Amino acid sequence: MKSIHIDLGKDSYDIHIENGLLDRAGEYVRNLTKSQTLAVISDTTVDGLYGDRLEQALRKEHYNVRRIVFPAGEKYKCAETLLQLYQELSDAGITRSDYIIAFGGGVVGDLGGFAAATFLRGVPFIQIPTTIIAQVDSSVGGKVGIDLPSGKNQAGSFYQPKGVLIDPELLRTLPLRFIHDGMGEVIKYGCIHDIALFELLERLDDETIFGHWEEIIERCCSSKARLVERDVLDLGERMMLNFGHTIGHAIEGCYGYGYYTHGEGVAAGMAMLTAVTEDMGLTKAGTSDRLRSVLKKYSLPVDVAASADDLFPYISNDKKMRGNNMTLIILKELGQGRLLPLKAEDLPKYIRKRGSK
Ligand code: NAD
Ligand code: GLY
Repeated sequence: MKSIHIDLGKDSYDIHIENGLLDRAGEYVRNLTKSQTLAVISDTTVDGLYGDRLEQALRKEHYNVRRIVFPAGEKYKCAETLLQLYQELSDAGITRSDYIIAFGGGVVGDLGGFAAATFLRGVPFIQIPTTIIAQVDSSVGGKVGIDLPSGKNQAGSFYQPKGVLIDPELLRTLPLRFIHDGMGEVIKYGCIHDIALFELLERLDDETIFGHWEEIIERCCSSKARLVERDVLDLGERMMLNFGHTIGHAIEGCYGYGYYTHGEGVAAGMAMLTAVTEDMGLTKAGTSDRLRSVLKKYSLPVDVAASADDLFPYISNDKKMRGNNMTLIILKELGQGRLLPLKAEDLPKYIRKRGSK
């Protein structure tokens, strides 16, 4: 078992990572709360696969368990589902001395966490993430929220969980496309913070990685925990997590959400940007080739057909833009990211294809 403490004063908590943890979830939850009733929020897919096992594990500790399930998919991370969750929490008689568990991928974590943050002005909650994205990223750091018709994650809050319980074995049922999607973010951690992780990913592949998830998740969560501790409100160093995301979001938007997954957009964004910053002498020579080959190994794109002119309109609404200023994340070398503050008018120098001006 691996544990990481995230030190945020009164909002501190532990992340526990262990194969098979799901069946012992009751013991972990009992260490966090003496409450009697738990509302487990999940989506149809995760509830169908693992809902009974989690309920059984929690009942061993004599909890009353109320399962609240909504349909799987990003389109349900919306205000309408949130209102339904409030109603079901109310019907279940959940009070502020009870606990909510968000059990699923990033959609469940964001939506269930936002319901926890806002129902009765805040009910404590625990994250039990079940996708790679959720296990290495979204369950840690307290960003919760929903999408609005005007944009992704536009309504939300910072609301830290009381604990994060990660069972890497749950990843075995994840469809391959979601594995690759998550690998985009895992490779990102290697790039910005952890050369040993990057080198491990160079040695592994789609098959052999399954023996290493505990270590990989621990390395990613440690990187994220340290960044969140130093910048919980995402005003400085935490922005490092956005490496590849400026171009990545533009790719997702330009092709219509759903054509490229988030991880695929980020992968192409990291590769395209690093090729350019290497040519500009800002990134150590050879970085781009190593990055491209590790991305390809996990079936991730390193370029897209859209031109820089096609992508550019989708960047201007990027939330990393503040007034005329923005921060781009680039690599000094593998394992070392850096924040590069820019004026918006300088952005086209970076958002272009290698070799073009
Ligand atoms: P998701 O929650 O939609 O999960 C992807 C699919 O996998 C769903 O259909 C889900 O039902 C299914 N699934 C989940 N676990 C499974 C398992 N173990 N086996 C089989 N199927 C399983 O999406 P995601 O990729 O986990 O997360 C994406 C969301 O996370 C986005 O909404 C994004 O905005 C958010 N996000 C938030 C943060 C944050 O810091 N809060 C960070 C990154 C991403
Ligand atoms: N996923 C980015 C963050 O938590 O800041």
